[in-house]
Amino acid sequence: MKGLVLAGGTASRLFPLTIVTNKHLLPIYDRPMIYYPLDTLAGMGIREVMVVVGGKSVGDIVELLGDGRHFALDLTYRYQRGALGIAHAIGLARDFIGNEAFCVVLGDNILRGDPLAPVAREFEDGHYRAGTLLYRVPDPERFGVAELDAQGNVVGFEEKPEQPKSDLIPIGVYFLRPDAFDVIEGLAPSGRGEFEITDVLNHYIPGGGLFAPVYQGQWADAGTVPSLVTAAELAQRDDRAGHLLPPVERPRDPA
Ligand code: DAU
Repeated sequence: MKGLVLAGGTASRLFPLTIVTNKHLLPIYDRPMIYYPLDTLAGMGIREVMVVVGGKSVGDIVELLGDGRHFALDLTYRYQRGALGIAHAIGLARDFIGNEAFCVVLGDNILRGDPLAPVAREFEDGHYRAGTLLYRVPDPERFGVAELDAQGNVVGFEEKPEQPKSDLIPIGVYFLRPDAFDVIEGLAPSGRGEFEITDVLNHYIPGGGLFAPVYQGQWADAGTVPSLVTAAELAQRDDRAGHLLPPVERPRDPA
């Protein structure tokens, strides 16, 4: 599988922290935010990763991560002009992905504690057409929200509903196949003017094409000031468990 990390967007919910820099460079405990989604992909055994960048300080992201060899990753970049939404950012990776299944991790999502390699393999080898991970939160209205039937199956996702139909949200980890690019091309922008990932996921629900296990580890996004604190606490709590990616020092590549 190939991997995608989405590090575009405007991060206006974090102003003034993100007026002159990119959200994904902000510290989460002892490392820049963008290390965490890369770590999540590395934990699935994924090595070839495209980072979609946009907004402020894009050059600093490239300077920080380079070609990825210090993390045993093979990194490539694509620029997203404007913040047209998560599905739009994914659509930019069509040529990079080619014919493979792939996993997308949002650049502000921090996952800890439950290895995802078996989940990634289950998707890659299985019959599902798309997938995400569900997580129970106290404030679902801030996210995409799952609607469930009486048997507990997902029957739809709504993006940031005023009246959430459950407290289960799709977190920012998506398993997709190349046909998702056609689905994205057929999308219309939502009321807030974005191409929504929840619309992509909804496309696969009829006929049982969506893989949506509940994530058993711990999760936080870091898109608001309070959640930035929660994410740092989560990263600190789990510090002794170690990270797949090397910690603080990064040898500079003179090339
Ligand atoms: O964190 C999980 C949630 O992430 C999901 O439950 C929602 O369904 C999903 O829409 C998303 O909601 P957010 O409001 O948190 O998304 P946000 O706009 O903060 O973007 C999340 C990441 O995606 C961010 O780190 C940057 C990247 N992004 C976002 C947009 C809008 C891009 O790369 N390009 C974009 O155009």
